[in-house]
Amino acid sequence: MSSHNELVAKAKDITAREMALYSQRTHHSQIATDRARKVMPAGVPSSFQAYDPWPVVVKHASGANMIDVDDNEYVDYDMGFGALFAGHMNPAVRRAVTEQLDHGTLYVTPCELNADVGELLAERYGLPMWRPTNSGTEATMDAIRLARGATGREKLVKVEGGYHGHHDEVMVSNKPSLADAGPADAPNSVPQSAGLTKGTLSDVIVIPYNDPAALDRALAGGDVACFIVEPVMENIGICLPDDGYLQAVREICDKHGTLLIFDEVKTGITAGYGGATRTLGVEPDLVTLAKSIGGGFPVGAFGGKAEYMDLITDGTVLHLGTYNGNPLVMAAVKATLTEACTRPIVEATVARNQRLVAACQDIIDRSGIPAHTVEFGAKGCITWREERVRNYRDYKDSDFDLAFAQWIHGINRGVLLPPGLDEQWLVSVMHDDVTTMQYADVFAEFVDELIS
Ligand SMILES: Cc1ncc(COP(=O)(O)O)c(C=O)c1O
Repeated sequence: MSSHNELVAKAKDITAREMALYSQRTHHSQIATDRARKVMPAGVPSSFQAYDPWPVVVKHASGANMIDVDDNEYVDYDMGFGALFAGHMNPAVRRAVTEQLDHGTLYVTPCELNADVGELLAERYGLPMWRPTNSGTEATMDAIRLARGATGREKLVKVEGGYHGHHDEVMVSNKPSLADAGPADAPNSVPQSAGLTKGTLSDVIVIPYNDPAALDRALAGGDVACFIVEPVMENIGICLPDDGYLQAVREICDKHGTLLIFDEVKTGITAGYGGATRTLGVEPDLVTLAKSIGGGFPVGAFGGKAEYMDLITDGTVLHLGTYNGNPLVMAAVKATLTEACTRPIVEATVARNQRLVAACQDIIDRSGIPAHTVEFGAKGCITWREERVRNYRDYKDSDFDLAFAQWIHGINRGVLLPPGLDEQWLVSVMHDDVTTMQYADVFAEFVDELIS
């Protein structure tokens, strides 16, 4: 087995060769990005989509596949950060949306689909009351305001490395540099963007994930409205809770009168029929959803216990939005929940993902490379570190050179994911066995070269 330094040197060679190949294969993406850069910062609609030298620019997607403007074909393993659990243009979603088009796209007065969706989410999550939003960002923003309105408190606690959207109070310590991050057990609140006020920063307390004692300390002042946390962190690969962590979190929040918000924008129904909430068996006060429930359409939702959601009913807390519950998107959500991602389909997809994870772990075990697989529901990832990642500081200790080389090698062979270590793959309900396993085949090719 080569030493770690030898593997890194090899990875850098692979990266240099593959970057040159990428530039050749994606020439029309370069042209399209150069054009877009003239009218749009970084040439992309969301800064997440920008990477060097330019991102893949896509012209077609269907099922589990995408085609770029150079006619390169990919299996999409990102699936819109998990938003496309139903697959690209799932036939059931397409039919429902097409039928709805004949009846209009926006009423701004209720339609029956709103209650249909509320009932479906209540049944899956075991929480009675729901409101639709248009994105995950809106869902977390509204849930936090509701928690503040319910408790009369202003502060919130979040974990270091956690991403909850792009409103100000959660744009704190998403991916801080270690130079700014402060002590591991009591991290600084680091702004992720210019434009945040000092008041916002002083309202946000940052703690490490998987550290119940840190949560207890943060809540001890009795001035924290909510703890917002992904039950399984899915913005630093996949970071699982320690045994008993979420139960401890529940108890600590109860002890201090702080609301527990599970941000399931990423986990959602990719984690199982009733999300991570049902899969892991810990009930939060409020849940935020988006992505996977929408069949690829822009949607979010938040739901929770009646005692909190009733504050919206009685007008104590306002929740508004012109596009909330628009019939086109509600038709897509309903078709996703009732046809595209039913319980048996979700279970079969999770099983297919388990086969992919096992195949990748087998490749790692045979080669002895410093990596391991992590899985949750229909998602999985290769973590380039021997030990399990329990929090953001562990994630920062992963080997980004090896991860980057694997990514750029994969994209040139039709494995589409965003660069870096943050993301995980998703097996959608439209990935069949062949498209699912293509990831493992390309990974094996990469590992063979790495250790040769
Ligand atoms: C956990 C989590 N919460 C909230 C959001 C924000 O969702 P959106 O991008 O729909 O605003 C994201 C987006 O990736 C997320 O990963």
